Amino acid sequence: MALFSSSTQSIPLTGEIPRHVAVIMDGNGRWAKKRFLPRIAGHKRGVEVVRELVKQSATLGIEYLTLFAFSSENWRRPAEEVTFLMGLFMEALKQEVCKLHENNIRLVMIGDHARFDEALCAQIAEAENLTRANTGLTLTIAVNYGGRWDIVQALQKMQRANPQLQENFTEEDITPYLSMHYAPEPDLFIRTGGEQRISNFLLWQLAYSELYFTDTLWPDFDEHAFKLAVKSYQQRERRFGRTGEQLKTN
Ligand code: IPE
Ligand code: IPE
Ligand code: MG
Repeated sequence: MALFSSSTQSIPLTGEIPRHVAVIMDGNGRWAKKRFLPRIAGHKRGVEVVRELVKQSATLGIEYLTLFAFSSENWRRPAEEVTFLMGLFMEALKQEVCKLHENNIRLVMIGDHARFDEALCAQIAEAENLTRANTGLTLTIAVNYGGRWDIVQALQKMQRANPQLQENFTEEDITPYLSMHYAPEPDLFIRTGGEQRISNFLLWQLAYSELYFTDTLWPDFDEHAFKLAVKSYQQRERRFGRTGEQLKTN
């Protein structure tokens, strides 16, 4: 089956492929509203876009794809939307996990799962266990995730494990306890839907990521749109504090 449409093929990706891409999938509600549909129609359509993006990421050789699906602040939404979203995660997990496994994809769910019901927790554990040893793309889904929560829980775990450190700890002491300790920091951060903010996503890990914002609403974020983001990444100069001249001589 051809994965790319002809419009996608017209964007050549000749440079370095980012190892880790992190995405805030925003704009589902507005996509639905534009079509006089209920917001949940946008979320449903959003799941299909996730499926395509996972396929495309694996094909491009991206090693880590991290998707923000529900923030710790999204509980503030109307109860019926929250309930629908929880049901959608459950359904998507059930339906997709075998396919992910067949494609050698490892699934990891990050976030504070204490507030989830038992059935969802069990489904998450089953999906993670099944795909744990897979060596292809690592797909991380952040649900009830908050960047500040992540830093606080990491500090708590670090203190419990190393009480002798007291105030003499370094960044390297903290990072093993962050939710995404198994992955390199994101090279490319994408936010769809037009807003230019981080919304409490990976605060620690995005320190040196290349940021890409697009007005495209998540349900419209197709292969072509993704390739545009990767192309933009390939045109950046990542200096990490050095000068451009230093990079040329090294
Ligand atoms: C992102 O789309 C999905 C979630 C946050 C769950 P939104 O639901 O935020 O869509 P908009 O921003 O209202 O259009
Ligand atoms: C961010 O989107 C969270 C997710 C995509 C899961 P929001 O739509 O909740 O963000 P704000 O409220 O506009 O910052
Ligand atoms: Mg939004």
